[in-house]
Amino acid sequence: MKAQLEAIRSAALDAINGTQTTAELDAVRVQYLGKKGELTAVLKQMGKLSPEERPVMGQMANEVRAALESAIESQSAVLAEKALADKLAAETLDVTIPGKEVKIGHKHPMYLALDEIKDIFVGMGFTVLDGPEVELATYNFDKLNAEEGHPSRDWSDTFYFDEDSRVMLRSQTSPMQVRAMETMELPIRIIAPGRVYRKDEVDATHSPMFHQVEGMVIDKNVTMADLKGTLNTVVEKLYGEGTKTRFRPHHFPFTEPSCEMDVQCHKCGGVGCPTCKGEGWIELLGAGMVHPKVLEMAGIDPEVYSGWAFGMGLERTAMRRFKIADLRLIFENDVRFLEQF
Ligand code: PHE
Repeated sequence: MKAQLEAIRSAALDAINGTQTTAELDAVRVQYLGKKGELTAVLKQMGKLSPEERPVMGQMANEVRAALESAIESQSAVLAEKALADKLAAETLDVTIPGKEVKIGHKHPMYLALDEIKDIFVGMGFTVLDGPEVELATYNFDKLNAEEGHPSRDWSDTFYFDEDSRVMLRSQTSPMQVRAMETMELPIRIIAPGRVYRKDEVDATHSPMFHQVEGMVIDKNVTMADLKGTLNTVVEKLYGEGTKTRFRPHHFPFTEPSCEMDVQCHKCGGVGCPTCKGEGWIELLGAGMVHPKVLEMAGIDPEVYSGWAFGMGLERTAMRRFKIADLRLIFENDVRFLEQF
């Protein structure tokens, strides 16, 4: 029995000191000291011993029990400390690690240019309108005096939704002229920026989707001089004092007379370079006096009222404003490009 107790003591102490967790330690305790434990089993055999041996073995058994209990207690303290240390290590928050940089987006250069344009026009008493991109041919063409058979109505130029060519993606913001005339009280001063769509291939100056800003004034005694004066003022505010423009005769079905306005090339200052294709000028907008037929169709008496309108390419305006050479840069949204504005 003495040998048995010795064996239990050394095996149990090894087991106790080898535990890694409180749960393991508890299992070892049950294994040796539990009701059905190994030490308990030995103690149950005490009855078989002689009266002389009994107190000696009893004392030894108590010593073993005490040794195991104290070993368990100290191992328990060790494990508790280890558990705390592990937990602290796992939950460490290192406040000295540099934070992750939060990238904040910013406005697209084209919208920066649009904000400037809006500011200028609002300052002159214009109202900013928003209109549908899915438009009726009635507004995009008919009421703008572009009759059936007009080349811009062709399927090869325009995105239609139906066989009858009545519903379409607007090809210009000019339908907003009609929508304004039909719904607003006279006199009218509006601009209407937005997306327009045409079946164009993408290249340095073309895209099937681009932006225009429509502008229109309807009042009594409005003349072409007002149109030129207003647009020259806008161009100087946008591009700087002294910026030169030129007006060339042109044709649009919904204005009479019609013109196009060019602005002097920012790259070469008018001498001629690749940016302006050797012209010295860059076309910025189409404009003219609102056609009397268009006024009439919108229920406005052309004998009493007159007006002017323009449609300006927003991409081009922004490219000129920020000296951007290729239209595709505007749509690619490469952060390295956008960050420059
Ligand atoms: N809508 C014309 C275009 O897209 C521009 C324009 C607008 C011309 C208003 C005259 C008046 O080319």
